[in-house]
Amino acid sequence: MAKLRYAAILGWGMAVPQRVVTNDELAQQIDTSDEWIRTRTGINQRRIVGPGEYTSTLGADAARQALERAGLAPTDVDLVILATCTPDRPFPATACAIQASLGIPGAGAFDLNAACSGFVYGMHVATAMIRSGMHRTVLLVASDIFTHLLNWNDRNTCVLFGDGAGAVVLQATEQPLGLLASTIGAWGQGEDLMAAEAGGTRMPATPELMKQGRQHVMMNGREIFKHAVRGMSESSLQVLAEAGLTPDAVSLVVPHQANVRIIEATAKRLELPMERVFVNLDRYGNTSAASVPIALCEAVETGRLRDGDHVLLTAFGGGLTWASGVVRWGRPS
Ligand code: ACO
Repeated sequence: MAKLRYAAILGWGMAVPQRVVTNDELAQQIDTSDEWIRTRTGINQRRIVGPGEYTSTLGADAARQALERAGLAPTDVDLVILATCTPDRPFPATACAIQASLGIPGAGAFDLNAACSGFVYGMHVATAMIRSGMHRTVLLVASDIFTHLLNWNDRNTCVLFGDGAGAVVLQATEQPLGLLASTIGAWGQGEDLMAAEAGGTRMPATPELMKQGRQHVMMNGREIFKHAVRGMSESSLQVLAEAGLTPDAVSLVVPHQANVRIIEATAKRLELPMERVFVNLDRYGNTSAASVPIALCEAVETGRLRDGDHVLLTAFGGGLTWASGVVRWGRPS
């Protein structure tokens, strides 16, 4: 019988735009305050793209770092997956631009849209492809320029988001590393709870609709909040049970960084202290699909993760979508 394959994380990287926008700066333009944003969300500042920075440029920067840390060449990669809901262009897939920018010859490349859950969805898909034996080395990138979708006069949404990218390189191994268990889920009935109405095939963007701002994200924050806590905590418990672990065995939770109150409520349901939860949304806001890999990257680089640790990844996003996975950290010996 063929040995079971795993997909170890060999490298990790992140990229954020240069430009920092503080809560005080936003408060000069709309009716909000640093105090409201900090206490209701935990966000102090966010990064916002400038000219020449796109989903593909940030994604490629993060990917280059991940390949370098993995000690791999572009020619080693046989599949590129980009998790994004804000592609460079509606067509073709932005993953192809990243593939070209890195000089990865011939490898398959496609985009995956699961909004803020995109990276954890991507971990699930990439690991399944490696475990099946169909791919050996997968570059998984998550990059979103979510600020592109915002109405800067809507205080309900514009204070919450920032731009960024993260990436990992996964490679086949027979050692039990990488994702040990994962789940992805969606509740399509909730798609209107958070959406950009115009700009797709259902409602093509016309000058009239654009004038009304229908291309911007609309969100029911309170409803999303409830679904987020339930989706992340239930799917987390499910993957821990599948991996044969109790929450106590988790060294670090790396959750989607949308709102610190969502993160605290999720940790409470998992009966885990906040000391074992990684939070960096104070500096970046909600970077959509990029939030989990950016947090993972910072967790590793600040020594919060050691070989052999169990890391719980959990995310929630528009769709509505959710995904969780438990990773055994470490590179194959
Ligand atoms: N500044 C000041 N006041 C504000 C602001 C702001 N930026 N935004 C909203 N308010 C006001 C509201 O208008 C409301 O006023 P009202 O009572 O007079 O109507 C009041 O503050 C309270 O509003 P609530 O909705 O009760 O505030 P809440 O405590 O729920 O916080 C928030 C709102 C931060 C949006 C919260 O509900 C949340 O984080 N929800 C989850 C959103 C989310 O994570 N979305 C992303 C999903 S991931 C993805 O796919 C990209």
